[in-house]
Amino acid sequence: MSSNKIQKICCIGAGYVGGPTMSVIADKCPDLEIRVVDINKERIDAWNDSDLNKLPIYEPGLDRIISRTRGRNLFFSSEMEKSISDADMVFISVNTPTKTKGLGAGQASDLSWVEASARQVAKYAKGHTIVIEKSTLPVRTAQAIKEILNTANREDQKNQISKTFSVLSNPEFLAEGTAINDLEKPDRVLIGGEDLEAVNALVNVYMNWVPRNQIICTNLWSSELSKLAANAFLAQRISSINSISAFCEATGADVKEVAKAIGTDKRIGNQFLRAGPGFGGSCFKKDILNLVYLSGYFGLPEVAKYWNQVVVINTWQQDRIYKIVLEKLFGTVNGKNIAILGFSFKANTNDTRESPAIRICSELLEEGAVLSIYDPKVSSERIEEDLEKFSFNNQCIWKMANSIPEALKNVDAVLILTAWDEFFGLDWNYLASLMRSPAWVFDTRSVVNRQEIENTGLNLWKLGEGD
Ligand code: UDX
Ligand code: UDX
Repeated sequence: MSSNKIQKICCIGAGYVGGPTMSVIADKCPDLEIRVVDINKERIDAWNDSDLNKLPIYEPGLDRIISRTRGRNLFFSSEMEKSISDADMVFISVNTPTKTKGLGAGQASDLSWVEASARQVAKYAKGHTIVIEKSTLPVRTAQAIKEILNTANREDQKNQISKTFSVLSNPEFLAEGTAINDLEKPDRVLIGGEDLEAVNALVNVYMNWVPRNQIICTNLWSSELSKLAANAFLAQRISSINSISAFCEATGADVKEVAKAIGTDKRIGNQFLRAGPGFGGSCFKKDILNLVYLSGYFGLPEVAKYWNQVVVINTWQQDRIYKIVLEKLFGTVNGKNIAILGFSFKANTNDTRESPAIRICSELLEEGAVLSIYDPKVSSERIEEDLEKFSFNNQCIWKMANSIPEALKNVDAVLILTAWDEFFGLDWNYLASLMRSPAWVFDTRSVVNRQEIENTGLNLWKLGEGD
């Protein structure tokens, strides 16, 4: 293969990153054949389901792209060996969760899956293969991947099989809920690598739809670190505005007004200044903890402490919310009915990884509250798995509601945790009539209108608004 003429791509990992990313590449590059493989057979079956509502992830616009690419030049399969050996380019897009045991537990990333994927590529690849890190990885992981690939190479050379590899880093910056738009119109594409021919091959793939001046080429280590740093900076902004939200509540200021005022300064910018119940999602916490771990590893304890505080404030914000609910409901929620609107970590996704709802709901359940949870996209099985991690001495009482009115029936309070579109502009006159009296509305995402709620006689607490 001449690396500038990529024909076949394989992606290991059909998750929230691999699935949408490969769908968009297939859509924009009809001449490329793309195979997405995954060790999870059920997930592959779901990607191949003829009912597009059953795709394993919900992402606006994804079904439209799948319907025109799947079976044309995009294939989801469990055939790891053939997909890798046929490919000129292999993306590794498997999960890298925080380690739960061993050295670096609670901070460092668990690279077992990345390593296993690299070993499979080493085993099955043929000829020259460009291997691309898509998963967010600690700085210098590419070195480990290179070593695994080169070891295989040496063994094959003994058997006179010729295979060579180039390793690139190409971190993904998509945000869930807007993944398709982020992929189709990225702010930038980042490619790290030393082998110019391989870098150009990947540049050529992206140039099918991304202007060349938005494709940044750099070295491997800068690319890996940029991804961690970008997520750390974004998360830091959320912790910053959330710390100000508490300040606003204490002083009578309004965090939305403050965000608007500071965001009009071009140097600060107006994005990512929405106060809320804290950041969730698969990346922010994991990546910051990773940065913290690496800072310690490289002998930079002050840097570690600095970034760790972003996570500390995030957890504090979630705890603060549940304590406010408790305090407003006369110090106890034992036996009280509370509706939860929104369980995903943000709107427009069915993903609940690190969702603030998990911690807040578990604290309320721990205090004896009875929860009715409504989310337009998250399944009850998912919620059950998330909440069963916590032990409530068999006190875990919650039910799934199929509609907003069903969730609010006979409750003492409603807690809004995700800003789904359908939570805006609700008929609060009607909803108030379903709730017990006196009842509370706790709005952590600035979804409701103060005047409207107060007109119904409901009590209202809004995050970041002083009385
Ligand atoms: C993951 C990481 O969390 C993130 O850090 C990285 O930037 C991209 O990859 P995501 O796609 O959201 O993000 O993860 P997930 O939805 O869990 O998908 C990973 C997939 O890889 C799963 O479907 C899993 O079955 C698959 N996998 C895992 C393999 O196919 N092979 C393995 O050896 C391990
Ligand atoms: C993030 C990064 O944005 C993306 O570039 C990276 O590739 C993966 O991690 P994601 O986690 O999918 O994407 O969603 P994002 O929109 O960044 O939101 C993360 C969390 O921050 C959510 O819980 C969201 O509700 C919260 N958030 C975001 C706020 O609380 N306020 C804001 O102003 C923005």
